[in-house]
Amino acid sequence: MTSVNDLRSSFVDYFARNGHEAVASSPLVPRNDPTLMFTNSGMVQFKNTFTGVEKRPYSRATTAQKCVRAGGKHNDLDNVGFTARHHTFFEMLGNFSFGDYFKDRAIELAWGLLTKDWALPKEKLMVTVYEDDDEALNLWKKIAGLSDDRIVRLGAKSNFWQMGDTGPCGPCSEIFYDHGDHVWGGPPGSPDEDGDRWIEIWNLVFMQYEQHGDGSRTGLPRPSIDTGMGLERVAAVMQGVHDNYDIDLFKSLISAAANATGADAGGEGNRSLRVIADHLRSMSFLIAEGVLPSNEGRGYVLRRIMRRAMRHATLLGSNEPVIFKLVPNLVREMGQAYPELSRGEALITETVRLEEGRFLKTLGRGLQILADETRDMGEGAVLNGASAFKLYDTYGFPLDLTQDALRLRGITVDQPGFDAAMAAQKAEARKSWSGSGEAATDNVWFGIADRLGPTEFLGYETETAEGEVKALLKDGAEVAVLAAGEEGFVVLNQTPFYGESGGQVGDTGVLKGENAQAVVTDTLKNHGVFAHKVKVSEGELKVGQALSLLVDHDRRSSIRANHSATHLLHEALRIVLGDHVAQKGSMVAPDRLRFDFVHTKPMSPQEMAEVEDLANSIVLQNTPVETRLMGVEEAKESGARALFGEKYGDEVRVVSMGEPTGNGLGWSVELCGGTHVRRTGDIGLVSIVAESAVGAGVRRIEALTGHAARHRGNAHVAIVENAAGLLRSGSQDVLDRITALQESLKKTERELSDARKKLALGGTSAGGSASGDETVNGITYVARTVEGIAAKDVKGLVDSEKKRIGSGVVAVVLKGEDGKGTVAVGVTQDLTARYAAGDLVKLATSALGGQGGGGRPDMAQGGGPDGSKASEAIAAVRAAL
Ligand code: ALA
Repeated sequence: MTSVNDLRSSFVDYFARNGHEAVASSPLVPRNDPTLMFTNSGMVQFKNTFTGVEKRPYSRATTAQKCVRAGGKHNDLDNVGFTARHHTFFEMLGNFSFGDYFKDRAIELAWGLLTKDWALPKEKLMVTVYEDDDEALNLWKKIAGLSDDRIVRLGAKSNFWQMGDTGPCGPCSEIFYDHGDHVWGGPPGSPDEDGDRWIEIWNLVFMQYEQHGDGSRTGLPRPSIDTGMGLERVAAVMQGVHDNYDIDLFKSLISAAANATGADAGGEGNRSLRVIADHLRSMSFLIAEGVLPSNEGRGYVLRRIMRRAMRHATLLGSNEPVIFKLVPNLVREMGQAYPELSRGEALITETVRLEEGRFLKTLGRGLQILADETRDMGEGAVLNGASAFKLYDTYGFPLDLTQDALRLRGITVDQPGFDAAMAAQKAEARKSWSGSGEAATDNVWFGIADRLGPTEFLGYETETAEGEVKALLKDGAEVAVLAAGEEGFVVLNQTPFYGESGGQVGDTGVLKGENAQAVVTDTLKNHGVFAHKVKVSEGELKVGQALSLLVDHDRRSSIRANHSATHLLHEALRIVLGDHVAQKGSMVAPDRLRFDFVHTKPMSPQEMAEVEDLANSIVLQNTPVETRLMGVEEAKESGARALFGEKYGDEVRVVSMGEPTGNGLGWSVELCGGTHVRRTGDIGLVSIVAESAVGAGVRRIEALTGHAARHRGNAHVAIVENAAGLLRSGSQDVLDRITALQESLKKTERELSDARKKLALGGTSAGGSASGDETVNGITYVARTVEGIAAKDVKGLVDSEKKRIGSGVVAVVLKGEDGKGTVAVGVTQDLTARYAAGDLVKLATSALGGQGGGGRPDMAQGGGPDGSKASEAIAAVRAAL
């Protein structure tokens, strides 16, 4: 028997041998398509290569591509478990030519693999061609030797392939396999074609056109080839079974599920076992890519898949989490071909276990209610929408789970009624919100959030993606177009740009469209809607347009490092300072981070060093940073640190870093919606650069990471080295040298000051100009104008002069270097009854252009802006005597 794993490699090897590049599967969440929920065929990753927009170093490729068809346009979720060939997850094998070979070689290669390498009997095969494609028809005759009755012409409905409403497309030719007359069904195009006897195993698409949004179709630069073969289907053929769920891979998963649940794989529960086996694959692959169950977008599709599987586990009698136990079986089967499964095994297991635990709490009660509500219903009955909504809203039953539960009894759900109940609840939420009286522009955002729903954030996994413009805003109002030079906000259906929240700043970057470009200067988040603040630099942005979204990678990397470092510092602070350290706020920017926390006194240098050492020891562990999704209570029980008083949704992301010291989830565990490094080592280095107070009992530390921390360290070293050069000492001696210099400087200053005073009083040299003692109105008046001494020394001069003359009035005016004047007037004790120093100094001050001045009756000081009026000041005092 050829196993699934052998078939996969045999296909890829065959085409590699025939000159094709073996390319890895692209992610399930497409990076290059704004409208596609999940990758649904092999050509998705090559979409832009076909149209010539993207150049690759090869013109032929082959892949085994993981695909999900659940949610969005292609949705097979409802059928899984009920048919032999529906899957939510499947693998598509394909070969591609980008303007290299065309129809003839494609047919030759396909026929060669099927009938030679895989030795399928020619009489079991049949093909279809597009109705007027004579070329393909003749090639099948020539190359495969098929007779006319083995080639069927079919119309566009089945033989024209396009990925979606837009994109590369072309006529196709399908190869069918006959499972034998023991199975009911007819060949393609016959009235019984829907039967299971003739099964399409390979679709060869002759890519020739590109379908545009406006309905027009243009030719591709060169005709190309895209083929797709369902691995599960061809494995069934090669293993001689009719049902995809009987191939080796599914047999193994189904038997593991039977063991875990205690169900009989061949019996009654077979449908549920198929559902579990299929859903296990889609949930595991999605989680491995970072999609986590949530109530929005892709996360909600994942949740629907998970919960559907969980209900089927309870149908088999399991009332405990059980599906998570099957993850190792899947990893064993598929981990070699898809290493992301092995790498993500722990995350997948835990995410599934948590979701099972969460849902099982309400599942039993919800099923009971469902049973009560439908007890008297027979086939053809309809469950009212309000009940289905209550199951959704209160018991976490996705609508399709309720539908699935009722399907076998022939009961359907009133979907319009369900939608109406949902709309009524939203309207209620809106009413209570608009009462809160927020700003008018906020109203606009609430309207957008109401209409469009939250933006799907792709930025945990990728920094580039495509998105579709859903709304544009200019000056606070919605517009249809933003033209070159204009500024405004862009809302997209999905985005890798982080919107400012939780202390982390918004991303910046570029939006690019056909002939249009805009610079994103900030990203905000309003009611779950991501608002890209832009300036259009080229062309115009229009609602409905598809754009490439490119986050500034370097800036985001620094932000990641700073955010992760904030978590490490938080935990380190708690360890060093104590459990009272609660986060009071934080700011994570590309160039720095700061963290505010409860602590009553300044940190000592030693505490700072300890905190920094601890944080850096986790950096050096270089362990992966892990994110889990948990219920809030569950998260808090696990010891995760949360921001006190913060409102969290029902579910939170829990980010853990470093090896756990106890039995916790990690060394640091926090509730956080921000973006983080992959491994702690990516932080590079954490350096605390400041510690200060921000309020009563709240301290702030500021820190740098990576290059910024290193650059700052280097800059400081350079300063020390330059200083050492200037001081002609070694770096080690810089401090001693500076202390010695300071001492010697102080001594010199003291000596200089004394010398200057002496000089000033000597009155003959540059230090001052003598005006001598004079007698005015019978008393001695000494007046001097001095320069070159400090203002604080003026009074000292007045005092010495007073002592020298014994009785009299002394006025000293300093002409400062800055041009201002300072004056001090002294009156000896015996004269204070006649003259007040304060009055005299006022006269002098006003001569200097100033006002006031004051002091004691025997000594007063003042000043004015005009030092050149020194002799006028002296004269003013003289006149008053
Ligand atoms: N893209 C083609 C398909 O999905 C091959 O069928």
